[in-house]
Amino acid sequence: MFDFDERYKGGERAVLVNVDFAQENSCEDLNELKLLAKSAGASIVGVMSCNRKLPDPRFFIGSGKVEELLSMVSESEAETVIFNHELSPSQERNLEKELKCKVITRTALILDIFAQRARTREGKLQVELAQLRYLQTRLVRGWTHLERQKGGIGMRGGPGETQLESDRRLLRERITALKEDLDLVERRRTQSGRARVHNNVPVVSFVGYTNAGKSTLFNLLTDSEVYAADQLFATLDPTLRSVELPHIGKIILADTVGFIRHLPHDLVAAFKSTLSETRDADLQLHVIDFSDERVQDNIESVRSVLEQIEADEVPQLRVYNKIDRLEKVKPGIVYNEHGKPEAVYISAARNVGIEFLYKAIAELLGNDLVEIVVKLPGTEGGLRNRLYQMGAVNGETYSQTGEMILSVKHQRVELAQLNSRSNGALEKYCVKPKNFTFKEPEF
Ligand code: GTP
Repeated sequence: MFDFDERYKGGERAVLVNVDFAQENSCEDLNELKLLAKSAGASIVGVMSCNRKLPDPRFFIGSGKVEELLSMVSESEAETVIFNHELSPSQERNLEKELKCKVITRTALILDIFAQRARTREGKLQVELAQLRYLQTRLVRGWTHLERQKGGIGMRGGPGETQLESDRRLLRERITALKEDLDLVERRRTQSGRARVHNNVPVVSFVGYTNAGKSTLFNLLTDSEVYAADQLFATLDPTLRSVELPHIGKIILADTVGFIRHLPHDLVAAFKSTLSETRDADLQLHVIDFSDERVQDNIESVRSVLEQIEADEVPQLRVYNKIDRLEKVKPGIVYNEHGKPEAVYISAARNVGIEFLYKAIAELLGNDLVEIVVKLPGTEGGLRNRLYQMGAVNGETYSQTGEMILSVKHQRVELAQLNSRSNGALEKYCVKPKNFTFKEPEF
């Protein structure tokens, strides 16, 4: 993949800078920055917090603070200073000159993490596009690595062209090529997305503040090895798995990116299509680290990102995770006033309360057990066989006129799928209860 900025490599000694403009306690933002920096592989050798009313136009922080930062950088032999803010390209340049080390903004840091974590082709393309767009806004001096990277792009720009102009041109061309690639990938995904909807298999997606335990729960439910680590953004691309769960039957699980506070707006736009499973899901499992003292803020951050990517209308079950860390919280389901599950309390890592999660999902997907009696004419031997294959038949007798009378007990969704595959035969021959229909799930 295209390495967006050769100056920014992980594994470095970093000093973090956080400016509190609202004169409020900003230690939450600082904590998040620490997690982000660690996720990027940096080792934190110093932290500077200060208050300001407005950013300084030249250095973002005041010149006194720049001096303080310089001695911190030289004492700790830091290679990088990470600002928890957006800097203008000239502020970044001025700071680099004064501090004699590289200076990174919050967006660059997040992009760096995204670049390390992207797994699918679409995710990688999305990240590269976001990186290049970000670069475009800061292209104020030569970026010779672009020249070296050009490879297939070919040599553009005549000898009279300055380095900067040819870099700009290479960037523009790369962005255009990337957008075309992305279009293609997105079109393919939309087509397979349609096929899935057609198959009537419900999609359940995970959302949640980063580090809440989404991957851990996803692994538990799928027995898979999606990377779970105590880092931010361990997951970036939605990973789709088709699984068969107790009481629920077949569903597609989509693991998605971790959400953070103040996700830069450009990134939200860039990842919108990557998060389309979240938007199109039948149910969202909002995984929450219940042991985190910022639990309400985290819930609010997720809600706000969901709103930005227009995925806030999807029915949601709150999954309060990590209850093993809390003494008084027991596993269980909480129902709303309409008798629908609205929250469950579990521990994914300890495998505690998962049966409540299954039950709640089943109820919300309308995938509860259904008991019906069907009276099939002799011509429907195929349908009878399929019911037996599904293990749905509890008993069978014959009517005077030779029809097969089957007592059927099975998951609603699977029976509904069979019903639509057999052009409504299951509903047509159902004799008990009368006028039975496989309604769309209600939420
Ligand atoms: P991102 O990919 O950053 O969004 O994280 P995530 O939400 O996928 O979280 P992940 O599953 O990677 O878990 C984060 C950390 O929390 C890991 O160290 C897990 O082992 C830990 N964890 C997950 N569930 C539990 C739990 O029930 N109890 C405890 N104590 N720790 C848990």
